Amino acid sequence: MTGRLQDKVVLLTGAASGIGAATVALMLREGATVLATDIDPVRGQALVDSLAPAASGRIEFLRLDVAQEPQWEHAIARLTARFGPLDVLVNNAGVAPQLVTLAQTSLEEWRRVMSVNLDGTFLGVKHAIRAMTGRGGAIVNISSVAGLVGMPLNGAYSPAKAGVLLLTKCAALECSHLEPPIRVNAVHPGYIRTDMTGSIADTLGAERFERRVRQTVPLKKLGDAADIAEAIVFLGLRAVQVHHRVEPGRRRRLDRAVGGGAQPAAANRPRPSRSGQKR
Ligand SMILES: NC(=O)c1ccc[n+]([C@@H]2O[C@H](COP(=O)([O-])OP(=O)(O)OC[C@H]3O[C@@H](n4cnc5c(N)ncnc54)[C@H](O)[C@@H]3O)[C@@H](O)[C@H]2O)c1
Repeated sequence: MTGRLQDKVVLLTGAASGIGAATVALMLREGATVLATDIDPVRGQALVDSLAPAASGRIEFLRLDVAQEPQWEHAIARLTARFGPLDVLVNNAGVAPQLVTLAQTSLEEWRRVMSVNLDGTFLGVKHAIRAMTGRGGAIVNISSVAGLVGMPLNGAYSPAKAGVLLLTKCAALECSHLEPPIRVNAVHPGYIRTDMTGSIADTLGAERFERRVRQTVPLKKLGDAADIAEAIVFLGLRAVQVHHRVEPGRRRRLDRAVGGGAQPAAANRPRPSRSGQKR
């Protein structure tokens, strides 16, 4: 343990499995106190029970369905009463799509994917900003490469994850002028070995799924949840700040991160030269 998150209070959604579980474990090793939440209380509590002996009271489980706003209010209140004010929110909970064409996608399926992946992230961002205003903090939203490019059979999932990216940018810009600032970033994993990709492989068939991974992933293999956990911890650190001067006399702090967060302000973007080349 290097204590990168020493004394930080974290709320993480979708903690029971995959990327969420790996991130909870790493954050505990880095000294954080974690309210691990998930819609699945059996797996969530089992994870917490397995990590608790080494965590000296720094972890607790709470059932949280991210699509339900009253449950967010309850979760933030519970976290504050139990551990103190929120420093880092990780909006990780997500559901995979059914892998059907848009023509086959029911409105019910569209709303299911949107409600967890996009509504749930919006609610987390909203309530975290309320909790962090005046104190600062960090919000890390888990999007996907599917939120950066269109993919077949992902007609609900890709738009939901693209929405997470733009939600992240809006939040980052709104929060950059707060003092202290709240830093808001997004992570866009490729294919990572978790239950989610396991279910995709089951639906497509192992051979077709492996072909898809070989064709779309430059390293031609599934990534590890532990690698994504490292990126999430990095973005949760107070040290991750970039300062931009936006206009004379007014200073804004905008976070930048790989594939997410705020874009540099217009004044900082490369301007085309007379020949039309970017400088
Ligand atoms: N695995 C990948 O290849 C991959 C790639 C890109 C992005 N992602 C994203 O990473 C995040 C984590 O995915 P994962 O692969 O670890 O999946 P996973 O299925 O292993 O874990 C997702 C967790 O979210 C929980 N969850 C589902 N609905 C919920 C709800 N309404 N409220 C609270 N919790 C809920 C599940 O119970 C589960 O524990 C998701 O947002 C996913 O879209 C995953």
